[in-house]
Parts: sequence; C-alpha cells; structure tokens
Amino acid sequence: MEGVPEDLLKEAVKASENAYAPYSGFHVGAAVRTCSGRVYSGANVENSSYGLTVCAERVAVFTAVSSGERCISEVLVYFRDSDYPLPPCGACLQVLSEFSEGDAKVYMVGRGGSIRVARLRELLPEGFRLTPLKRG
Ligand code: THU
Repeated sequence: MEGVPEDLLKEAVKASENAYAPYSGFHVGAAVRTCSGRVYSGANVENSSYGLTVCAERVAVFTAVSSGERCISEVLVYFRDSDYPLPPCGACLQVLSEFSEGDAKVYMVGRGGSIRVARLRELLPEGFRLTPLKRG
C-alpha cells in the first residue's frame, strides 16, 4: 500500500486479528515504531465493564514502554471494520504524546486501504505535559 510503512501495516493488521471486541464488534490493530527502530503492536481489549476497555494504540504504546522503550517515532492504526480511516481517540493521543514529539507520524488505515496521514501535533495540538522530576 503506497504511502504507508509496510512493516507497520503488516503488524497492525496481524494484531487486529487478536482484537477482543465482543461488545462493539469493532476490531482495531496498532503498531508503533520506536526511535531505536523496533516495532511493537497491540489490539483493542474490551471488557464487560465497558469503561475498562483499552484501545489498540495504548496497548501498543504500553507494550513498547514496558519493554524499555521511551521514544516513539511513528504509529499506524488499522481499523478493520471501518470503510475510512479514523483518528486515534483523545486518550490515546495523550498517551502517545508522552513518548513522542509533535512531528511523529500517525498513519490511519481503513478497511480496503483508505489512508490518512497526519503529524501528532495536528491531531493533538496541546497535550497535557508535566515536567517530570526525572524521566522514569
Ligand atoms: N478503539 C481503538 O482501539 N482505537 C481507537 O482509536 C478508537 C477506538 C476501540 C475501543 C473499542 O474497543 C472499540 O474500538 C469501539 O470504540
């Protein structure tokens, strides 16, 4: 698919196959590339107590961070059940902003290959940011 990093797309599509979405039926896969060049992926995981659901993007970011990564340069989100690409939700954009610069690329892909590409700062112009005492 032109304009989209093939490795991220492959990982995000694969992750979407493991999405646990029995309540919404909306399957999402995400893949992030870290500044060290590694790729981590995730899928959305829903819960009977709906509010506990975690989006694919946050699963991918948390997997990267809990593997020791602290810097994300690119994100791709694959919406298996949408005909058009969608932006990550506000919570995911805030979590991404903790570990990304504003120029990080966000690729959004719908079923059938519709694509939107944006910079993180376009989707989240002003993320909340505390100055950490020490980067943990
Ligand atoms: N979802 C994601 O995984 N990523 C998004 O960017 C938006 C929404 C999930 C959460 C829930 O499991 C389902 O999609 C419907 O909202």
